[in-house]
Amino acid sequence: MKITASFTTGVTLAGCALADCGSSLRNIMYFDQYHLTTPTKDVTGGITHVITAFANSSLFVGATPGNYTPFMPLADVRALFDNGTKVGIAIGGWGDTEGFGAGAKTEETRKQYAINVAAMATSHGFDFVDVDWEYPGGNGPDYKQIPNANKTDEITTFPLFLQEIKDAISPKELSIAVPGLERDMIAFTQEQAPKIFAAVDFVNVMTYDLMSRRDNATLHHSDVAGSLASVERYLSLGLDASKINLGFAFYAKFFQTQPGVDCSATPVGCPIVLAELEDGSDAGTSGATTFEKSNVVLPVIPTNLTVTSDGSCGINTFNTCLGAPENATCCSQYGYCGSTAAHCGTGCQLGYGNCEGPSTATSFVAALANSTTDEENGGEWWWDAENELFWTFDTVELMQRKFDEIVAAKGLGGVMAWSLGEDSYDWSRIAAMNAGVKKLQATKKRSTKKRRAVGQKLHA
Ligand SMILES: *[C@@H]1O[C@H](CO)[C@@H](O)[C@H](O)[C@H]1NC(C)=O
Ligand SMILES: *[C@@H]1O[C@H](CO)[C@@H](O)[C@H](O)[C@H]1NC(C)=O
Ligand SMILES: *[C@@H]1O[C@H](CO)[C@@H](O)[C@H](O)[C@H]1NC(C)=O
Ligand SMILES: *[C@@H]1O[C@H](CO)[C@@H](O)[C@H](O)[C@H]1NC(C)=O
Ligand SMILES: *[C@@H]1O[C@H](CO)[C@@H](O)[C@H](O)[C@H]1NC(C)=O
Ligand SMILES: *[C@@H]1O[C@H](CO)[C@@H](O)[C@H](O)[C@H]1NC(C)=O
Ligand SMILES: *[C@@H]1O[C@H](CO)[C@@H](O)[C@H](O)[C@H]1NC(C)=O
Repeated sequence: MKITASFTTGVTLAGCALADCGSSLRNIMYFDQYHLTTPTKDVTGGITHVITAFANSSLFVGATPGNYTPFMPLADVRALFDNGTKVGIAIGGWGDTEGFGAGAKTEETRKQYAINVAAMATSHGFDFVDVDWEYPGGNGPDYKQIPNANKTDEITTFPLFLQEIKDAISPKELSIAVPGLERDMIAFTQEQAPKIFAAVDFVNVMTYDLMSRRDNATLHHSDVAGSLASVERYLSLGLDASKINLGFAFYAKFFQTQPGVDCSATPVGCPIVLAELEDGSDAGTSGATTFEKSNVVLPVIPTNLTVTSDGSCGINTFNTCLGAPENATCCSQYGYCGSTAAHCGTGCQLGYGNCEGPSTATSFVAALANSTTDEENGGEWWWDAENELFWTFDTVELMQRKFDEIVAAKGLGGVMAWSLGEDSYDWSRIAAMNAGVKKLQATKKRSTKKRRAVGQKLHA
């Protein structure tokens, strides 16, 4: 028999089909090649899917595909997690759209691309494939070089492209990472969205970076309210709640606020300085800081630095840019010597070269100690008055709220995070995810049992 909605009790079950309610939630972790500090199995226990990232989207274009080399042998990846944890491969990522555009173009290119992806997944033994096209229809980092108007065909080819990939890799699962911001949902039209959702097994909603360098005023980058609004947009386009995984970010974001403006009263709406230049490049006034040990604990700069020989610098190296070719004396937040605003501006690593902006290293440590919670929106924030820097991030408490107010309330299929190694300070965010999944699963099991009992009684 079918139990009607009136027998479901409480918010936990809304949007969750009976057959799904007792089954497990997805607990998905991206594992990126730039953060290779890994936790022990007691930390990773409970993670159901690992998505290694990234394979370049251009590898799969054409009749003679390129070779993808995993950044870590798959057996070693599997050994970090529970037996049976699915290991997938993410294709693309921020800034990598070229191969997708070429692959999606025609029926012929789509078929070829799908065959190449399937061959790669099979030869390496990946359990599933994740397409991270940021974004079909435009708004990637190249949107000023290649205008969105030149990508309108992607709106109709995206679902076809995904369907070809799904057909080629089946029975392996296909997932996609999708934008959290409405302005980036160019390809998710009323007409196309249902076709996109039908082609994939699950959808990782990037409910973070909800404030980006294209904004003009402060905003939480991953708050409860903003994340909920994101999820609701996908639900209203017809995406089944059980396919949705809510995204968590294991990093904070910072933005330089307008000189002379006091931003201590409110985390929302305080004007920031220009964060993206006219050509779409980074103005060097904003960035991200992960929850890695080297960021959370005030870094001690080694005294035995040597001049870089390969352009790398900063924390976790013993390389300085000072003494490097004259115009590359700044060490960027990502650990590269250079001379652009992105190297010398905010986030620049003082101690490893010249900097023009304030030090985010000391500011982040102060932010962690001094931050406050915007309870209404569900976001953690701090404004560094001395350096005029706005910080926005998640706490473990706010993650729990997201489980209650979004994952449970909307009956979502699971959660997702970017990324494993970015939580290496104390792995507390991964622990919060595992705890949240476990608790929700237990609630679901109890409710299903209860409803089964009620159902049997009615049936008798
Ligand atoms: C996991 O696999 C390893 C090696 O294949 C085996 O030794 C271990 O007993 C397995 N653990 C569980 C819980 O199945
Ligand atoms: C991907 O590969 C293309 C073609 O080889 C290259 O131009 C591009 O820089 C690569 N992208 C990334 C993000 O590595
Ligand atoms: C965009 O499309 C226009 C009109 O078709 C074309 O002239 C222009 O070269 C294209 N720009 C790029 C960067 O592809
Ligand atoms: C920021 O300001 C610019 C210039 O006024 C405007 O074009 C843009 O739409 C604004 N961005 C947002 C996200 O409001
Ligand atoms: C600098 O000293 C540390 C120990 O303090 C050592 O581990 C490291 O290898 C040294 N680096 C260089 C480049 O000498
Ligand atoms: C450094 O910058 C100056 C001024 O912009 C320029 O004249 C010079 O050629 C640059 N030097 C190098 C090595 O790039
Ligand atoms: C809190 O912020 C102030 C600057 O406003 C700073 O001086 C102080 O060190 C911070 N507290 C901690 C514990 O870092």
